[in-house]
Order: sequence, then C-alpha cells, then structure tokens
Amino acid sequence: MSASQSAARRTVLKGAAALAGAVGAGATLSACSTATDSGAGGPAVPKEPVELGPVADVPVGGSKLFRERKVVVSCPAEGQYKAFSAQCTHAGCVLDKIVEGEGNCPCHGSRFDVTTGKVLRGPASDPLPAVPVKAENGKLIAG
Ligand code: FES
Repeated sequence: MSASQSAARRTVLKGAAALAGAVGAGATLSACSTATDSGAGGPAVPKEPVELGPVADVPVGGSKLFRERKVVVSCPAEGQYKAFSAQCTHAGCVLDKIVEGEGNCPCHGSRFDVTTGKVLRGPASDPLPAVPVKAENGKLIAG
C-alpha cells in the first residue's frame, strides 16, 4: 500500500470512527434523557462537589467559564453565585468563551445567557441546566 493509499485509508477510518462516536453520543444522550432525575435531560452536570477556584475569580456583576469543569459561574451580587452546565444542550460541545455575558458554543454557534442559562441563539433550544454552587472558605464549590 502506498503512502497516499494509507493516508486515504486512515481518513476513511477516522470518519467511520467519528460517525460511530456521534451515534454513540446520541445513544448516550438518549439514555441520559430517560435516566436523569434533573428533569432537564441532556448534558451531564457535576454529580460530586468540585472546587472551581477562588471566589475572586468571578467578579461581582461578572461571570467566568470553568471549561475544564464544564461549568459557568456568574455573580449577580456580592456573595451570590449562580452556576450552569457549560455543556451545550444541542449536541454536547463545551462552551468555549463568554462574550458580553453570552456563552458561546464553538460547534454550531448557539449562545446562552450565562446568568440564567437561557438560549439566546440556536440551534440549541433547551437552556443550560443549573448547577448548585456555593462559596466556602473563599473557594467556589460547584455540584
Ligand atoms: S453543540 Fe452547541 S450548537 Fe451544536
């Protein structure tokens, strides 16, 4: 097999693997929709409390994306925090940034209000699920 044939074969195999992964992800999402007790269905949110970092990371009136934890946190008032899953409700991509209070999904362009979880732009139609969050000893704890 030539190098170009080999590369073409790898490309086909990658495509097949990606398709299988997408089908598998769909099956997982379907299973989650019926198995979750959150009532929201869709993407997972932290099941165990996770430390996000210092409370100072989220300024009053601001928000922060904790991408590695798949959580977005906002602080509407001193000492008050709200958190939502940062996993897009369309197909499960993790939001990549917050622009002017809107969480952006890099996959298909959905936008969410990070202070309410509400969809601002599709294709996502379901809001981001809320995640419990608290400040403890100067740290934010989600989940
Ligand atoms: S996965 Fe977010 S818009 Fe499609």
